[in-house]
Amino acid sequence: MLKKLMRKKTADIQLLDERMEAVKNRQIPNHVAIIMDGNGRWAKQRKMPRIAGHHEGMKTVRQITNFANAMGVKALTLYAFSTENWKRPRIEIDFLMNLPGEFLNTYLPELMEKGIKVEMIGDMDALPSHTKNAIMKAIEQTKDNKGLVLNFAMNYGSRVELVHAMKELAEEVAAGTLKVDEVNESSIGSKLMTAHLPDPDLLIRTSGEVRLSNFMLWQLAYAEFIFTDVLWPDYDEDCFLQAIEVFQKRDRRFGSLEGDQKR
Ligand code: FPP
Repeated sequence: MLKKLMRKKTADIQLLDERMEAVKNRQIPNHVAIIMDGNGRWAKQRKMPRIAGHHEGMKTVRQITNFANAMGVKALTLYAFSTENWKRPRIEIDFLMNLPGEFLNTYLPELMEKGIKVEMIGDMDALPSHTKNAIMKAIEQTKDNKGLVLNFAMNYGSRVELVHAMKELAEEVAAGTLKVDEVNESSIGSKLMTAHLPDPDLLIRTSGEVRLSNFMLWQLAYAEFIFTDVLWPDYDEDCFLQAIEVFQKRDRRFGSLEGDQKR
């Protein structure tokens, strides 16, 4: 029985490797953005507290980060805490604010070894100092790494980000350093926190919810969307690979009539 199970496992790994190689020979999305949802429901199904789901979700972050890096994805933006998440119970917020520290303290050596670069979008100033310090330390230590950019969206809200961008441009117009005609897609994009990254090619949301929840509204204009019922703590390499396989079958036209246009 055990031998049979082990043979099946080996066959599964071989199949995953073969699929991975096939996928790598086609176009890999440069930037993948993920709304990691369903931690609470994962815990509830197991009669565990919600925070246990978040903790398990942190392990998925590690797994998917390493896998995306191995696949050649250039940037992975993970929605870890939204500007709306402050409405949650204090105990849950405190737990979520401890996760970056725990994650980075545990996995920073591995991130370094794999050349992964940590970044963050969102309002860092409003984070507790221990959260901020852990993130800043990781950003500093990994700044010269050349592999995947692991971009945490923490205390992030897309509308607030857009309001800031518009205000900056309005101030430049008022000061006479920018012409009204120069307020365009490129100058708006340059004021966003993602200015140095390509727009996401692929958005994944787990747990069956089908909405954007104020996540990268501008940047996702031409992204392919994949919604899956899998809860984030259950999301694994196979799910991620499947998402890329689906992405590779999509015909991206960016508004034109011909397929696979570049933007
Ligand atoms: C949404 O699920 C998830 C969050 C608000 C938090 C996501 C955070 C993680 C996955 C861990 C992040 C790890 C690091 C290292 C920063 P939910 O709680 O709304 O789930 P539910 O809809 O089932 O209740």
